[in-house]
Amino acid sequence: MKKRLLTGLQSSGDLHIGNYFGALKPFLDNYEAYDSFLMVADYHALTSVREPVVMRQNILNVVRDYLAVGVDPKKATIFRQSDNQDHMELGWIFNCMVTVPFLMQAHAYKDKVAKGIEPNAGLFTYPMLQAADITLYDVDVVPVGEDQRQHLEYTREAVRKVNMAYDNAALLKEPETLILDGVGIVPGTDGAKMSKSYKNTIPLFGSREDIQKAVMSIVTDSSGERPEHVYAIHKLFKSPDELEPLYAEHRGKYKALKDALAEDIDAYPAPMRERRAAISDEEVKSVLADGVERAKLVSHGVMKRVRDTIGITI
Ligand code: ADP
Ligand code: TRP
Repeated sequence: MKKRLLTGLQSSGDLHIGNYFGALKPFLDNYEAYDSFLMVADYHALTSVREPVVMRQNILNVVRDYLAVGVDPKKATIFRQSDNQDHMELGWIFNCMVTVPFLMQAHAYKDKVAKGIEPNAGLFTYPMLQAADITLYDVDVVPVGEDQRQHLEYTREAVRKVNMAYDNAALLKEPETLILDGVGIVPGTDGAKMSKSYKNTIPLFGSREDIQKAVMSIVTDSSGERPEHVYAIHKLFKSPDELEPLYAEHRGKYKALKDALAEDIDAYPAPMRERRAAISDEEVKSVLADGVERAKLVSHGVMKRVRDTIGITI
């Protein structure tokens, strides 16, 4: 039996290069060796997306992104969270097992509050819905970007709390976190973590103009000889051996280096962009319909185990 792997992206905006190198590429590089699940976290996106039109479009786009980067829906179960009510149910159960002070330590939550984002209660309990996403499928491995390390620790700790509360170490499975070496946290145009919620992203599938505009807005300090934020992004697309001569030739010339970066970002996903344009809404819906059936086959079994254990079945 293959081990199980699962990851997910929120449908909260356009796929950016941080999502791709932090989460999607590690998934792509590993998923065929596992029984793999790839989720659209659309109820997580409701913590930040309010317009119904945008919500719908984002959901379709995330699946399109999954298919465009090369995930084969026959080899991975692609589904969305909201299609399977088990996520809501287990999320609630997790909420009842952890304390408010426990959730108050979450960096992602604290960072958003510090940035002035209004913290709705969904944002606060976000890690427990994520814990449900993972444990519903008895997942062994979760590939994510570095910024999700703490959220995975939350899942692991919440699992231990639940299992201990019911004195059953086999009730929920504690997952391992897979974080790729060398990617770390991809910086955004302002130097902070690239994130849809911080509006500092470079879209992977943006137009040449969008990419150019985003790259030109990368903050550069005038002290060093090499614009570090530009380089940090550039090294995702080219090796140090390729970059050294370029950065030596254009020492101190930030405009030329940014132009080179924009060109490289534009060229990298060209084949994926072509594939993406050919994916219809119907194809997306059919992939999701098939995926959720496969997902439920696993999650219903886990929910039965959980409901029986907590005494909610009479
Ligand atoms: P965002 O922060 O833009 O809303 P998500 O929360 O949907 O993105 O993240 C989806 C995946 O992409 C997660 O696994 C996350 O760790 C990864 N990811 C997001 N931003 C970055 C980044 N700047 N660097 C590396 N990985 C990232
Ligand atoms: N919280 C993740 C993020 O923002 C998205 C996510 C939701 C996720 N559920 C998940 C990632 C389950 C991995 C596993 O990036």
